[in-house]
Amino acid sequence: MKSYLSPSILSADFGNLTKSIKSAEDAGAEYIHFDMMDGTFVPNISFGTPIIQAVRKDLKSFFDVHMMVQEPGRYIDDVAKAGADGITIHQEACIHLDRTVNQIKEHGLKAGVALNPATPVETLDCILPMLDLVLIMTVNPGFGGQKFIPYTLDKVRLLKEKADALNLNLNIGVDGGVTLDNISSIKAAGANFFIAGSAVFKPADRIADNVRAFNELLKD
Ligand code: DX5
Ligand code: ZN
Repeated sequence: MKSYLSPSILSADFGNLTKSIKSAEDAGAEYIHFDMMDGTFVPNISFGTPIIQAVRKDLKSFFDVHMMVQEPGRYIDDVAKAGADGITIHQEACIHLDRTVNQIKEHGLKAGVALNPATPVETLDCILPMLDLVLIMTVNPGFGGQKFIPYTLDKVRLLKEKADALNLNLNIGVDGGVTLDNISSIKAAGANFFIAGSAVFKPADRIADNVRAFNELLKD
C-alpha cells in the first residue's frame, strides 16, 4: 500500500494557518490532519468546525479530521459540512461505535477509528472490514511534541497481520512522536499513514523542507 504523510496543524502557527498549510501542500503534502479536542476526552482544547470551514476554501488537500471528542456522533454532521474528507473517531469515546462509524460513511467520507496506546487492537475485530483507517495512537492524545511510545509498534504489527489475513484494503496510521528518525522503522512494522505535527510545522520556516524530507523517506 502507498504511504502518506498527514501533517498535523496542531503544531502550526494558528495566526497564519492557511499560509502554513499551503507551504505543506506546495511541498507535496496530499493530506492535512486536524486535531479537534474537547477538553473532556483529552485534557486540552484545540479548535472546532469553524477553523476547518475557514481554511477549506483556499486548500485542496484531503482534510483528515481526528476527533478527540467524547461521543463524537454529536458533531459528525457539522464536521462533514465544514469540509472534512475523512473523519477518525476514538473507540474509547463511543458507546455505539458501529453506529458512529456508519454515520461517517453515510456522508460519503472515509471512516477511521483511533486507539489510545493502552487499548488493544482486538477491540476492533468486529468492525475491521468497515474501516478505511485504523489510527494507532503512539502517544497519549492531547498534545503535540510528545515522545513516541515504543510498545505501540507491536500493535501496528498485529494490525497489519490481521488486515493481511482478511485481505483488507485498510490504511494503518500512527499519530504522535513521529519523526524523520523513526518513521522508517514504523513503516517497516506495517504502517502506511503517518501523522506528524511538530516534525513538520516546527520551525515554521522549515515546513516545505520537512514535508519533502518525509516524502523522500516514504516513497516506495
Ligand atoms: C496528539 C494529536 C497529534 C499531534 C501529533 O494528541 O492527535 O495529531 O498533533 O503531534 P506530534 O507529531 O508533535 O507528536
Ligand atoms: Zn491527531
